[in-house]
This record gives sequence, C-alpha cells and structure tokens, in this order.
Amino acid sequence: MKRFKTLLAAIVALLTMSCTANANQQSTDNQYENSMDKQGKTLVVFFSHAGENYNVGNIKVGNTKIVADYISEMTGADQFEIVADKDYDMPYMQLIEVAKQEANAGELPAMIGKLENVEQYDTVFIGGPVWWGTYPQVMFTFFRDYDLNGKTIIPFTTHEGSGLASCVEDVRAAYPDADVKPGFAIYGHDVRSGRAKVEKWLKGLVF
Ligand SMILES: Cc1cc2nc3c(=O)[nH]c(=O)nc-3n(C[C@H](O)[C@H](O)[C@H](O)COP(=O)(O)O)c2cc1C
Repeated sequence: MKRFKTLLAAIVALLTMSCTANANQQSTDNQYENSMDKQGKTLVVFFSHAGENYNVGNIKVGNTKIVADYISEMTGADQFEIVADKDYDMPYMQLIEVAKQEANAGELPAMIGKLENVEQYDTVFIGGPVWWGTYPQVMFTFFRDYDLNGKTIIPFTTHEGSGLASCVEDVRAAYPDADVKPGFAIYGHDVRSGRAKVEKWLKGLVF
C-alpha cells in the first residue's frame, strides 16, 4: 500500500508539472498572438546580399533574408526586398571596398522594383546587414523614397560584431514621426540555427 501511495504521489506530481508546462506554453502563445493582433497589417522590408560573405562562406540565401523569412512565417507579414540596380556580385574583400566608398560618398544607389500601397501597412520591420556601421546605402535610397512616418517601425540587423551599430538612430532620423521600437540584432553566422532567438524576440515585442 505504501509503495502504491508513493507511486500515486509521483504520478500526481508528474501530471501537475505537465499541466503547468502546458499552461505556460499556452500563455506564451496567447501573449504572442495578442501582441501580433495589435500590430495591424505588417510588412518586412529588407536588403540582403547572397554570395561570398564573412564567416559563412559563399551563401545562396543572404543572412538577413533568412531572418526576414522567419518573421514572415511567424507573423504573416508581407515582404519587400530592396534590390540595388548595381552589381554587388564580387568577392567579399572587393565588396568591402565598394561599400566603404559608397558610404563615404553618401551615395544612394538606385533600386530595382517598387513597393505598392505602402499606406496599407501599420507596422514595418526594417532589416539589413550592417555595412560599415550602418545599413547598406541602398536602404537609405528606400528611406528617401518611401514615407513610413506615422507607422510603427521595428529595425533589425544581421552583423558580425557591430550589433545594431547606428541603424536604429539612422531609421529614427529618416522617420522622425514614426514610432521606432528598439531594434534586434543577430550574428549573421547564427541565423541558420537562430529561429528560436527570432521567435523569442517577436514574442517579447510590445505594441
Ligand atoms: C560590405 C560589408 C561591410 C560589412 N560591415 C560590417 C560592419 O561594419 N560590422 C559588422 O558587424 N559586420 C559587417 N559586415 C558583415 C555583415 O553585416 C554580416 O555578414 C551580415 O550578416 C550579412 O548579411 P546578408 O547576408 O543579409 O547580407 C559587413 C559585410 C559586408 C559585405
């Protein structure tokens, strides 16, 4: 009888733990859904460079695009990829120099493609790699051409050590009347195994 009682107590304890775990999971999911409900119609705008890159070799899909895809999968956000009308298909060390010259000259490379009906979006995620301490110059072409003032903007970066660098400040300067949230940064070499990190960040967003 004593053994039976011990066994019963163990089963009850296990069931309680499992219910608590489920309840916690449920409450996290609800929190996620509630926060996503409040953000309205959502867009992810990003730039990403496939090809030879630092720490990850020659990649077919750029690091930032992988994060943009996670965001769309998890939130249902539409996407707009910023593509420069300029050839960046070159070895990493060469691109470093090209990007440095662009940044120093404040060049605004032309973009291919148009974003239609930007006014339909309430929340815009903006993401890109850090190039020389901020977003690639072509993203500033986008900032010049599309008015996101009045919207909620959530910046993110992929990088190899600079974190957010000056990206959040630069987005705030481009859109002084937007509600620019604190940004999210993830190492480029971490994104392929970093889905859970992105999910945790999204679940923690407050609107
Ligand atoms: C031209 C160039 C400049 C870069 N400058 C920086 C930098 O200033 N700080 C940093 O942490 N990483 C820098 N990186 C690394 C990229 O930010 C990082 O690899 C990023 O994940 C690339 O994302 P993508 O594959 O979406 O283009 C640079 C990479 C390139 C190609």
